Amino acid sequence: MYYSDELIEEVRSKNDIVDVISGYVRLQKKGRDYFGLCPFHNEKSPSFSVSRGKQMYYCFGCGAGGNVFTFLMEYENYSFSEALKFLADRAGVELPAQEYSKEAKERADTKAILLEINKAAAQYYYVQLKNSQGAQAFSYLKNRELSDDTIKAFGLGYSNKYSDDLYQYLRSKGYQADMIAKAGLISVDERQGAYDKFWNRVMFPIMDVNSRVIGFGGRVMGDGKPKYLNSPETMIFDKSRNLYGLHRARSSKKPYFLLCEGYMDVISLHQAGFTNAVASLGTALTPGHASLIKRYVQEVYLTYDSDEAGTRAALRAVPILKEVGITAKIIRMEPYKDPDEFIKNLGADAFEERIHKARNGFMFSLEVLEKNYDMNSPEGKTDFMRETARRLTEFDEEIERNNYIEAVASAYHVGFEDLRKLVSKTAVRAGQAKPAERPKTANGRMKGKEDGMVKSQKILLTWLIEDEAIFRQIEQYITPADFSGDLYRTVAELLYDQYEAGDVNPAKIMNHFSDEEEHREVASLFHTKIRELTTVREQEKALMETVIRVKNHSIEEATKNLESTDMKGLQRLMNAKRELQDLQKLHISIN
Ligand code: CTP
Ligand code: MN
Repeated sequence: MYYSDELIEEVRSKNDIVDVISGYVRLQKKGRDYFGLCPFHNEKSPSFSVSRGKQMYYCFGCGAGGNVFTFLMEYENYSFSEALKFLADRAGVELPAQEYSKEAKERADTKAILLEINKAAAQYYYVQLKNSQGAQAFSYLKNRELSDDTIKAFGLGYSNKYSDDLYQYLRSKGYQADMIAKAGLISVDERQGAYDKFWNRVMFPIMDVNSRVIGFGGRVMGDGKPKYLNSPETMIFDKSRNLYGLHRARSSKKPYFLLCEGYMDVISLHQAGFTNAVASLGTALTPGHASLIKRYVQEVYLTYDSDEAGTRAALRAVPILKEVGITAKIIRMEPYKDPDEFIKNLGADAFEERIHKARNGFMFSLEVLEKNYDMNSPEGKTDFMRETARRLTEFDEEIERNNYIEAVASAYHVGFEDLRKLVSKTAVRAGQAKPAERPKTANGRMKGKEDGMVKSQKILLTWLIEDEAIFRQIEQYITPADFSGDLYRTVAELLYDQYEAGDVNPAKIMNHFSDEEEHREVASLFHTKIRELTTVREQEKALMETVIRVKNHSIEEATKNLESTDMKGLQRLMNAKRELQDLQKLHISIN
C-alpha cells in the first residue's frame, strides 16, 4: 500500500516522540533532552535519550536510534505500515482505505475472524481451567510446578470432556461453523456432525510474535496417545514461521535465544528467569524459523533433549542456523531428559552454568561423530580425521575455516599444518571451487573496500545531518551525487533540499522510506557514533579525511564510467579533481 509523503509526515508530526516513547519508557528531562533506561539493551544507568526538538531518539549505550516510526518498528517489531497505522490511530488521522481486490479482502476478513475465534477459544479454555471442571488439569499443572503467574502469562487452559462444548460456545458467540472448522478447532463428520478437536487436554495457546493466538497444542494428562495434539496449519497458523514463546522472548534483553524442543521446556525456562527461551511447534527447525530468529538475535543456544533424537535434531539445526548467519552452541541436559526436568532437579543456577559450558555446534558434531570410529586405532582415527576434513571444507570463509582447523587440531592432538593440508586436498579432490590456501580473491578485497566506503559515506551523512555549520562548509565540495547507492543518495538529496528550504527535519527524511529494511538502514544513519574521538582536532581531521575519501571514490567511479568522447564529462572531472586538491587545504572547523 502506498501512502503519500504528506500523509506520512502528518501522522509523524501529530505524534510527539516524547509522548509516544513515554508510554514505554520512563523518561526524565535533563537539559533539553529526555533520558531513560534503554529498552533495547540491558543497562542500569540511563543512556537512552529522546529529543523533542529533533523528534528523534538515540541510545548512547547501544546505538539504537531513529524517529517515532523506528521506535515502534524496533520495540513492537511492527512493519513500517503497521507502525503508521498504529500512530495514525493514536492521533486520529484517517488513512485512506486500502484498495483490495475482492479475493484479497475476503482473505483478510477471514484471517481476522480466525484470529478472533482462536482468541475466544483461548479465553474459554482458560476459564475452564479455573472452574471446577478443570480441577484435575489445574492440579496437573501445579504438580508440574507451574505458578499461577506462569499459567496466566502463557494463557494455559483446559478443554473439557464434552465432545462439542467449545463448538457450542463459539456458535453462541455468533461464529459460523465453517469458520470454526477453518480455525482447526472442530472436525466435522457426516454422522456425528461437528465435534471439538481438543478433548480433555491441558491447552497451550500458541501465539505469534504480536501475542495473537494462532493455534493450540493440547497435552493429555497422563500416558494417553498422542501426548500432544496440535492445531492443523490454517490460514493464520504456519508452523514453520512461528516459534512458541517468541512473543515474550523477543523483549528479553539477552543477545541470544535458548532454543528447545518442547512447550513445557519453554515455560519452565521462562518461569526460572530464562525469558529468552523459544521452541519450534512440534516440527523440526526450518530455514523459516532461522530467519525469524535472525530478526532478534545472532546467536542461539540449542537446548534439545538429551536422548538420541534430540541430539540428532540439534545437529540438524546447526547448519540451518549457520545458513542465515546465526552461531549455534549446544547445551547438554544430562543426566536429565530436557530443560524442564533439569531445572526442576538442579535449579536455575545449574542451568546458567550449563549455558556457560555450552559447546560450539561444530565441535559438538565431531564429538558425536567420534562415536562411529575406533579412536584408539590409527586407522580409525585417520578415517575420522578424513571425515572431519571433509566437514571443514564446508566453511567457505578462510578465516573461519582456519579457526576451526585450529580448534580441531588442538582438540584431537594433530598438527595444524597437517590438518590444513588435508582439508585443502579434500576440497580439491571433491572439486570444490578453490583450494583452501589460495590467496584472497580480488573480489574479496573489493568487498572490503566497498564496505569501507559505505561506512565513510554513512559517517559523512551523519555529520551533515547533525551540524548545519559543517554542512555549510562542505556543501560546495560534496553533492548528493557523490554518494553511491540509491539509499544514501536519496537521503542526501532530501537533506540538501531541506537545508535549502531552511527546514532541516531528520525525522521527516525517514518518512520517505517505507520498506522495512531501508527504514532500519536510514535510521542507523541518525545514530552513527561520530563524536567518539576525544579531541575536536581529531574529529576535524577524521571528518576531513572522510570528505576526501568520499569525493575521491566518487571521482574514481565517474572516471570508470566516462566515455572517451565525452568532453564535457571530462571537463567536469578535471574540475572535480582540482576541487579535491583545494579540499586538501581546507580546514573544516567543528564547534
Ligand atoms: N510433540 C508433538 N506431538 C507429540 C509429541 C511431541 O507435537 N505427539 C511436540 C510438542 O511441541 C512437544 C515437543 O514436540 O512440546 C517435544 O516433545 P516431548 O519432549 O515429548 O514433550 P515435552 O515438551 O517434554 O512435554 P512433557 O514435558 O509434557 O512430556
Ligand atoms: Mn518434558
